[in-house]
Amino acid sequence: MPSSLKFDFTNMQSFIRSGDLSKIQRKIDDAHTQLIDRSGPGSSFLGWLDLPFQKNEAIEPIIRLAEEIRANHAALVCIGIGGSYLGARAVIEAIQPTGGSEIYYAGHQIDSDHLIDLMNALKHKPFYINVISKSGTTLEPSLAFRYLHQLLTSRPELTANKSHVIATTDRSKGLLKEYADSKGYRTLIIPDDVGGRFSVLTAVGLLPIAASGIDINELIAGAREMAECATSSDIEKNEVYMYAALRNLMYEQGKRIEILANFKPAMHYIGEWWKQLFGESEGKNGKGLFPAAVDFTTDLHSLGQYIQDGVRNILETFLIVEQSKHKLHVPADEQNLDQLNYLSGSDLDDINHKTYLGTASAHLDGGVPNMTISLPASTPHSIGQLLFFFEKAVAISGYLLGVNPFDQPGVEAYKKNMFKLLGKPK
Ligand code: PA5
Repeated sequence: MPSSLKFDFTNMQSFIRSGDLSKIQRKIDDAHTQLIDRSGPGSSFLGWLDLPFQKNEAIEPIIRLAEEIRANHAALVCIGIGGSYLGARAVIEAIQPTGGSEIYYAGHQIDSDHLIDLMNALKHKPFYINVISKSGTTLEPSLAFRYLHQLLTSRPELTANKSHVIATTDRSKGLLKEYADSKGYRTLIIPDDVGGRFSVLTAVGLLPIAASGIDINELIAGAREMAECATSSDIEKNEVYMYAALRNLMYEQGKRIEILANFKPAMHYIGEWWKQLFGESEGKNGKGLFPAAVDFTTDLHSLGQYIQDGVRNILETFLIVEQSKHKLHVPADEQNLDQLNYLSGSDLDDINHKTYLGTASAHLDGGVPNMTISLPASTPHSIGQLLFFFEKAVAISGYLLGVNPFDQPGVEAYKKNMFKLLGKPK
């Protein structure tokens, strides 16, 4: 395993019964073969396995485009939903870069107030639009694009050479591709063999991430390091597979919810990305752990009660970032009216860490098996490791569960009803 990302499953031990690991190892071996031979369900969507090894030629144009946006001191509005938006937002918010373009997000819901606020914020700023949709027909981003495109074209200084709209979409087909071609807008490609929720290391995620000032080569290098380490099918040697194995063992024992719990607000959108990755990949055919994400310590004061003491069908995975960007020590106070002097001089990160340790053992005592993924800091490298850790884990986990982790037929149901209610022409 890479030296930086750590995986600890000490608090799972009491839930692992004798023979469990060797039994699941046999299933893992099969799942591993299906994945590596590219012979399992959904095997035409395994392009994400190659993204950590993509060539410089694929990355260079994205870096140049990001440099152009930044050189123009322009904001970037990313229009997309689900897999066409969450990866970029998760990485950017986790790393919180400085010095790059401001990134705005649109098209991930249908809300007038959000759109009006966004358009007001953009009114006097130079901005680019990156409209991202593989299908090119998703309602939420299409609607937002119509508004934002009109805002942009009302600003002749931004549209003079058509450079301020970049469409990230299918190589050759779809409405968005036709739209962009007809207007002469630049396009970036979403590879055919990469599904939305696995697309963060394609142009879908990489352009906004690079525009925000993050070193995408480092992000990819982190993913590559994880890909190179997580090659053994032996769960004792491959922590990605151990994670997949343990969550499946817990599912077999009746756990129905996996909570990803962070202790750092910047990791909130990693939780959102993870929920989509696991929810869309595993929740099908009446199966799958329900992925929930919480922000601690905030949610310890709300959901904490349920996690400690509610229905015992929960498994918990802590996501820890060991070091913050800034150091803060608790100041002394002569009067000590708040009685906090016992913490004077303590590092806030240490207090946060002890809170995590206390929570993990309390939840274990309450019957919640838990494991921990720790990153030394939220750097591009370790976030890259984390992305690939989860992507590979969900692929194996889905195969263990007996589902195709790469399709999402259920997502169509609401769209059918919605379009009928809206009177969409056939
Ligand atoms: O993972 C997925 O496939 C979905 O979340 C899609 O990314 C999402 O529905 C957006 O689809 P599209 O990129 O076609 O607009």
